Amino acid sequence: MSLTRTHTCGALTESDAGEKVTLNGWVAVRRDLGGVIFIDLRDRYGVTQIVFDQENETLHKKAEQLRTEYVIGVKGIVRKRGEENINPEMKTGTIEVVAHELEIYSEAETTPFEIKDGIETNEDTRLKYRYLDLRRPKIQQNLMMRSDFNQSVRAYFYDHDFTEVETPFLMKSTPEGARDYLVPSRVNAGKFFALPQSPQTYKQLLMVSGFDRYFQIVKCFRDEDLRADRQPEFTQIDVEMSFVNEDDVLDMTEGLMKKIMHDVKGIDIDIPFARMTYDEALQTYGTDKPDTRFGLPIVNFSEIVEESEFKIFSRTVADGGAVLGIKVPGQGDMGRGAIDRLTERVQRETGAAGLIYIKLNEQDGIKCSVEKFLKEETVTAMVEKAEAEQGDLVLILAGPDPQVYKQMGTLRLMMGEEHDLIDQSTYNFLWVTDFPLVEWDSDEHRYHALHHPFTAPKPEDVEKMDDDPAEVRSRAYDLVLNGYEIGGGSIRINQREQQKQMFDLLGIDSEEAQERFGFLLDAFKYGVPPHGGIALGVDRIVMILAGGTSLRDVIAFPKNKNAQSTMDGSPAEVDKEQLDELHIRLKNTLTNN
Ligand code: AMO
Repeated sequence: MSLTRTHTCGALTESDAGEKVTLNGWVAVRRDLGGVIFIDLRDRYGVTQIVFDQENETLHKKAEQLRTEYVIGVKGIVRKRGEENINPEMKTGTIEVVAHELEIYSEAETTPFEIKDGIETNEDTRLKYRYLDLRRPKIQQNLMMRSDFNQSVRAYFYDHDFTEVETPFLMKSTPEGARDYLVPSRVNAGKFFALPQSPQTYKQLLMVSGFDRYFQIVKCFRDEDLRADRQPEFTQIDVEMSFVNEDDVLDMTEGLMKKIMHDVKGIDIDIPFARMTYDEALQTYGTDKPDTRFGLPIVNFSEIVEESEFKIFSRTVADGGAVLGIKVPGQGDMGRGAIDRLTERVQRETGAAGLIYIKLNEQDGIKCSVEKFLKEETVTAMVEKAEAEQGDLVLILAGPDPQVYKQMGTLRLMMGEEHDLIDQSTYNFLWVTDFPLVEWDSDEHRYHALHHPFTAPKPEDVEKMDDDPAEVRSRAYDLVLNGYEIGGGSIRINQREQQKQMFDLLGIDSEEAQERFGFLLDAFKYGVPPHGGIALGVDRIVMILAGGTSLRDVIAFPKNKNAQSTMDGSPAEVDKEQLDELHIRLKNTLTNN
């Protein structure tokens, strides 16, 4: 390489005018204007305009060969642009470089899509050519932000006396609620490692070992249904602390988020964050991860309508369900067509049976879609409870508990987005606490841990563990940001007996417990400090800070919706020899052997 750069493509300003410089980069745009060739030269720092005028014929000829995405080196003189040519959109928009020398380092075929932000290209094509997609400025900025994020996290924990410890990827399964990715062992025929769904058991063992304060920025692997905010491999900031209570972990996490917001976004956020119990979150927002950037709290009409003639209401309440509403301000004159479309959407997206409304507008006064079945005073009582006024719309759903709360939560979000009620410039952090310890799974007829089996019950609820487990609250907490669950953790069980009791409750008998978690139970024989921790979802937090809507916006090489990498074609079939070595035979229905 003969033309070694003196500057990057984002560095030069007017004060460099007259300087002899060398730049390296990719040809972003080539324009031929009546003999003068202009190149926008791009690297990750910016774009600089290069000019090849006609005076130097050989050089000009060479410049004529240039196409987009060629990689070149250019030597030239920095020149101030004329007033009329200044580009205020560009960092280097006041200058250009008049080329004297050009070297083509690499030619490029026409790329499958244009390298620029805002392009409309099918996502699978972008992922197949991810290395080209990653040339786009926005996604480069996202990854640079992610790098700043990691630096900030490490600095914080270093300053607070945490030790960064790496834990194994080849391990025994940790239960976090998803399926495991398995890795067959060649040297141990018929045996498998599981990739960690989280380093949960290891971090607890590190507390048993006396590390006191541990953190790690670590990959986790979960085989679960994918969504925009879920990837099969994702990154956690994993934290565990000894001799702590809930407040210690929450305080430490708030300090971390404050530093990250300052370092990465230049924003000073207020701490401590608001807190809400799980019950309150569900009852007010219909979800355990409420977006509190807007109001529209759920109003419970069950008491008002329990005696109603309208069977859909009274029967729902009699069967233990609920009749819920939200007030949407300013939508009281929504037309018939719009309401029909909304009803259809609500049915499709929430599974609700139907949507009932009360409109308050000048023309109709108070108009309820089922008023012929309801007494006037019932409608008035609902309007009053919802604090609805002229011009407002009250949307009502009736259904079984807890489904109807979740449906209402989805409807609330729909309304927030549709009517622009969400302030996109704010970051609303919220702790959700007091989760139930376990949840009844009616398909499998057993209890599941709502967080994981190592989460401690609240001491005041322990006595209910045998007789009324569904009523036991746990010492778990989730951190929510703008409606996303960005973290979760708990104070752990640190008594062997209580851990066994928890396994019992989850239907894991002592043999199975010993087989799956014997190492942890054994460790608990030898002196365990009270401990607790949290894990924060790096991909989700960076996505929110980058203003993205998909984790793929902030992961260099993500998987697609089918958990595949279309770029390298993984997962892929393997040779029979490789399978033989691993002592694996595929079922006949599968094709490759
Ligand atoms: P949890 O399962 O809540 O807790 O995970 C912690 C955080 O990780 C993020 N997350 C994900 N991000 C992207 N894709 C996924 N598939 C995915 N799954 C989870 C979320 C979540 O809040 N061991 C416990 C933590 C603890 O108790 O200390 C754990 O893993 O933001």
